[in-house]
Amino acid sequence: MPDEYWFDAIADYLGSAYLRNAFTKGTEQEVDFLVDALRLAPGMRVLDVGCGPGRHSLSLARRGYEVVGVDHSAEFVRLAREVAAADGLSASFEELDVRDLERPGEFDATICLCQGGFGLLGGRDETAVFQRIAATLRPGGALAVSAFSAAFAVRHLEAGEEYDPATGVLHEIATIRNPDGTEAPFDLWTTCFTARELELLAATAELVDVEVHGATPGAYRRQPPTLDHHELLLLARRA
Ligand SMILES: C[S@@+](CC[C@H](N)C(=O)[O-])C[C@H]1O[C@@H](n2cnc3c(N)ncnc32)[C@H](O)[C@@H]1O
Repeated sequence: MPDEYWFDAIADYLGSAYLRNAFTKGTEQEVDFLVDALRLAPGMRVLDVGCGPGRHSLSLARRGYEVVGVDHSAEFVRLAREVAAADGLSASFEELDVRDLERPGEFDATICLCQGGFGLLGGRDETAVFQRIAATLRPGGALAVSAFSAAFAVRHLEAGEEYDPATGVLHEIATIRNPDGTEAPFDLWTTCFTARELELLAATAELVDVEVHGATPGAYRRQPPTLDHHELLLLARRA
């Protein structure tokens, strides 16, 4: 089992090189889709949980939203703040363990994408964390949470990867490159979900209009999940 903050060492090593990952290149398409799907209007308050270096937060702030990003990684929060300050954006970033998230009813919309602070908990605490994330919404506020697909993980299990059916955690040793291009191996522990599990979680969190879609980074759209979608995207509204 990983310790609680296993991702911090990866974030420290990656730093700004995180944004070289191919999956970050589709940020603008993802934000275009979310603005429409969550029915966002400029000026709304948006929370980005597990925001990383802030790629979605900063894009939303550039479009006129009031954004708060929270993440446990001090390095990622520092990087996000740096860009927000340089570009004069209305976005603030805080170091926070999502297990301690406590901003009930404050936001018009909350996003938690690409495992941000929900799918990296080692198979522990997800129900309580999901409920905390949903509770940040005002009544009628909109939610988007993405999670790695258990069906994809098992169907496309690669050499060296291990999937634990008891916890839904996929373990792999990934080669990570720092900003200088130096490579180092790190353990990754990604918690995987089924569409049904996400629906059942939503049922514990006072959410309505729940939809779960199959998702591919940079190509978000409303579509039924298949065994070949890497991720699932839950959209919902607070009752
Ligand atoms: C794969 S990154 C995704 C970042 C961002 N949402 C994106 O789409 O680029 C996962 C993020 O979750 C954060 N994270 C992991 N565990 C966390 C925790 N317990 N509390 C808050 N953030 C956490 C990591 O620091 C990392 O920034």
